[in-house]
Amino acid sequence: MNIKDITIKKENNEILSKEEIEYAVNNYVSGDISDEAMTLLLKAICKNGMTFDETFNLTITMLNSGNIIKYDEIEGTIVDKHSTGGVGDKTSLVVLPLVAACGVKIVKMSGRSLGFTGGTVDKLESIKGFKTEIDYEDLLKQVDDINIVMMSQSNNLVPADKKIYALRDVTGTVESIPLIASSIMSKKLASGSDVIVLDIKVGKGAFMKNIDEARALSKTMVDIGNRFGKKTIAVLTNMDYPLGLTIGNSIEVIEAIDTLENNGEERFTKLCLSLASYMVSLGKDISIDEALKEVEEKYYDKSALNRFKELVSYQHGDINEIPLCKNKISIYSTKSGYITDIDTMKLATLCNDLGAGRKVKGEPVNHEVGIKLNKTINDFVKENELLLEVYTNDNIDENEYKNAFTITDENIDKPKIIYEVIK
Ligand code: URA
Repeated sequence: MNIKDITIKKENNEILSKEEIEYAVNNYVSGDISDEAMTLLLKAICKNGMTFDETFNLTITMLNSGNIIKYDEIEGTIVDKHSTGGVGDKTSLVVLPLVAACGVKIVKMSGRSLGFTGGTVDKLESIKGFKTEIDYEDLLKQVDDINIVMMSQSNNLVPADKKIYALRDVTGTVESIPLIASSIMSKKLASGSDVIVLDIKVGKGAFMKNIDEARALSKTMVDIGNRFGKKTIAVLTNMDYPLGLTIGNSIEVIEAIDTLENNGEERFTKLCLSLASYMVSLGKDISIDEALKEVEEKYYDKSALNRFKELVSYQHGDINEIPLCKNKISIYSTKSGYITDIDTMKLATLCNDLGAGRKVKGEPVNHEVGIKLNKTINDFVKENELLLEVYTNDNIDENEYKNAFTITDENIDKPKIIYEVIK
């Protein structure tokens, strides 16, 4: 067996065997296959795709390249959530305490921001003292005590994905359903939960720009999870516009807390309650209606807020210390009308340029900068009314921010927040 023949087979659109996939992945991880040779195979996969069996075998091969976490000592079902990433996506900060408050156990391993998508770990680290690295023994105790752990992904999970993803990132081979599905699902399966709820973002501010692509990716990931014996569903959600009213790190944590205080933006709150209901429904094996009732109760009686506070203090954070940049620049609308479009990617890029995100792996982020919308999609704004605030000490070009908003005389229909669920 050699990588050249395997690549030619894929270039000819033939099906790779489990052994051939294992050969390619394992020898790439050990350094016996070069970046150049692996790139040719990845390009052939991007061009010709993979069957479901090939994608499943790729996922399992990557999964087996590192440790797989086991929660045998913990009683009850452990639920996990994954978002494919969007702009202003602070959903986990609201959904997970809600689910934990309903009595379902959560261990969430998250990543850091890269490119236009933010990272939950960076957001959590904007809370002074918050520890995101947790030992296995401490993790078990914490789940047992308060049902919830939010931490960074441990280093020894899926090293094959780490190496292959880094190569895909610089060789234009990210956008392939089998490669994305196997990358995400290998990490989810390694994290050891019993139930996986995938939040697949669709739209202008997401990886998947259209619903058909998102559906195909979702179906592949759900089938991988189910074949591996994990209850898995995918919820397809709208990512055409920023989620909630903020983009950044500390500013998003503050908005998440406001939401848990029952003061959240309407569409964002609805999304959080729905996602939490799917997780509770699967975690407790109850109907979605029963789950929604429980979730709403824990939301309105602020048990979820209290659970978030417990989480923060358990992980050594100080909820009263979430520093936000002292200087803010207010930007006013130059015309009256309805906001009928928002250039979400533009706002994400502007926010990254403030320092909230990172362009290359390993860069530090500025937790204190960010954007707060005073108006969002469908809202009416008057001339000279506050449109948004930018938290920064830098000089900015206000027009760049204003131009991200389309303001017209006629409103558009309210966009859906959830499109469909794939089981
Ligand atoms: N996120 C991942 O973890 N992997 C991909 O391939 C794409 C998004």
